[in-house]
Amino acid sequence: MKEVDFDRPGASMGQLKERNEIPVETHVFHRYPAIDMPMVVGGVGPYLIDENGKRYLDASSGAAVSCLGHNHPAVIDALKKQLEQLAFAHTSFFTSRPAEELAGFLARSAPGGLDHCYFLSSGSEAIEAALKLARQYYVEKGEPKRSVVISRLQSYHGNTLGALAAGGNLWRREQFGPLLTKAVHISPCYPYRDKPSDETEEEYGHRIADELETAILDQARRT
Ligand SMILES: Cc1ncc(COP(=O)(O)O)c(C=O)c1O
Repeated sequence: MKEVDFDRPGASMGQLKERNEIPVETHVFHRYPAIDMPMVVGGVGPYLIDENGKRYLDASSGAAVSCLGHNHPAVIDALKKQLEQLAFAHTSFFTSRPAEELAGFLARSAPGGLDHCYFLSSGSEAIEAALKLARQYYVEKGEPKRSVVISRLQSYHGNTLGALAAGGNLWRREQFGPLLTKAVHISPCYPYRDKPSDETEEEYGHRIADELETAILDQARRT
């Protein structure tokens, strides 16, 4: 890997526009249109690299959910080999060796009872699938009244509507309230902010666990 040079000037959208190196208008629907973002062209290990060669330490790995780093030769090799054989086969009709092997590996590594995998493309989709799986389980058991999700305030479970409904991040939920399915939110596990000094950690833990139990019993009474 080349020597890291954090002092090198960066290449942002604005600078590239000034130098006439990209069109003045962007047609990308950016999250924050007012921010002049760097134009990245590559990645090596934990670094992202912009058009001027400036490196950015990708310390949280994007949104803190990716662990493979950038440009790892083994990852690229595996991707290439697979793409040369088969890119996609619909799971309604086919299975494949990579899917079977990965599911087997994960099942062997998981705690007892977790022995099947449901492959999806994002955390939000995984939450949607988990919500639907839980609902379907109770419908098939003959308990169709069960429909409320209980989660903790401040939790983030993704940006699709079901995941947003389950999440307890109030400012993200605010404007979409009427579209969200029913969820009950209880206190976060956050002793740093929420534990009074005259409460022990153990007492705090019990209080927070009891809150979950109370919410479950409360919902049971209502349904
Ligand atoms: C706990 C948790 N659940 C779900 C998600 C959503 O994942 P994605 O951004 O891949 O949809 C995230 C993303 O940060 C997360 O941290």
